Amino acid sequence: MAIVIIRQDDKIDVWKQALLNRSPNLKVYSYLEEHPKEEITMALIWKHPIGSLAQYPNLKCIASAGAGVDYIFDDPDAPQHVPITRVIDPFLASDMSEHVLALILAEIKNFNTYRVQQASQEWKPKNYKRIKDITVGIMGLGELGSLTALDLKKVGFSVQGWSKTKKDLKDVSTFSGKEGLKPFLSSSQILVCLLPLTPETEGILNKELFLQLPKGAYIINVARGGHLVDHDLIAALDNNLLSGASLDVYHQEPLPVSHPFWNHPKIFMTPHYASVSDTNSVVPQIIENYERLQIGTVLLNQVDRIKRY
Ligand code: NAP
Ligand code: GLV
Repeated sequence: MAIVIIRQDDKIDVWKQALLNRSPNLKVYSYLEEHPKEEITMALIWKHPIGSLAQYPNLKCIASAGAGVDYIFDDPDAPQHVPITRVIDPFLASDMSEHVLALILAEIKNFNTYRVQQASQEWKPKNYKRIKDITVGIMGLGELGSLTALDLKKVGFSVQGWSKTKKDLKDVSTFSGKEGLKPFLSSSQILVCLLPLTPETEGILNKELFLQLPKGAYIINVARGGHLVDHDLIAALDNNLLSGASLDVYHQEPLPVSHPFWNHPKIFMTPHYASVSDTNSVVPQIIENYERLQIGTVLLNQVDRIKRY
C-alpha cells in the first residue's frame, strides 16, 4: 500500500513532508519520481494531469486535496468505481467566510469604486451603505456556505440561503430547490455563489438569474468559474443591471491576459485563493482514510458520485 501525490503546482513536497511528519512510516511518492504503480492504493490529488489516474491498477481511493471535486469528473480516464473523498476542514470554511466578509465590506464601503478612482486621481465621495441594511444571499449551504451565512448573520447582515434540500440555520432564511430560487434571488442584494460545479449548476450565474435580482445587485463568485456565463456578467455590468462583481474563480486559470475581466472597472479579481487547504490541518483526515482503506471501513468525507459533490 502506498500514496501518490499528483498535482501540477509546487506543493507536492509540502504535502509529502506534512504526511511524513504525521506518520513517518508512510510510503508516499510524488507522481514525478520513479514509483511502483501497482503498490499505489491512494492518490492525493489536486488538478492532476488528465489521464494520470489511469496508471494505477490497485487504486482504492482518489483523495481530493481540496473541497471541490469537479476536476475529477472532468477526467474521462479517471477510474469510474474508485471512491472519491474531499476535504472538509474548519480552516477551509472559516478562511472562505473571512474572504467573503472582506469582499462585502469592501463593496458596501465603496473601496472598489475608490480603487478605480485613485488610479485616475479622482476625488468623488460616494454614499456608503450600512451592514444592517444589506441582505446577502448565499447559493449553496454546505460546509462553506453555511458557515459563511452564520458568520455574516453574526456581523449583522440579513442573510438568506439557497440549497438543493431545505436547511435549518439559526436566523438565516432558507430556500430550496427550483421553486425556491426566484423568491431567494428577488431580495438578495449581494449574491454569493458557494455551489459545487455539477451539470445542474454549470452556468447558473447567467442573464436570466441576474434579471431576478434587485437592480444594482453585487455578485461574488468564489465557487467555480464554470458557474458563471462570462459575457452575461459583462453585459449586466455594462447596462447597470448589476453594480459589480468579485471573482476568485474562472473558466480558465490562470485567466488569459486577453480576458475582458482584467480591465473591467466593476470587477474585482483574486487568483483562486479565497480559501486554500491548510496541509497540517488536512493531513490527519487523509491519513485516517488511508488507515480506513487498510481495514476496509467506510471513508470520511466521501463524495456521492451521482450528485458529484
Ligand atoms: P458542499 O459542502 O458540497 O455544499 C454544497 C451545497 O450546494 C449544498 O448545500 C448543496 O445542497 C448545494 N447544492 C448543490 N447542488 C445544488 C443545486 N443544484 N441547487 C441548489 N443547491 C445545490 O460544498 P462546500 O464544501 O461548501 O464547497 C462549495 C464550493 O466552494 C466547492 O464545490 C468548491 O467549488 C468551492 N471552493 C472554492 C474555494 C476557493 O478558494 N475559491 C475553496 C474551497 C471550495 P444540499 O446540501 O441540499 O445537497
Ligand atoms: C478550492 O478551490 C477547493 O475546492 O478546495
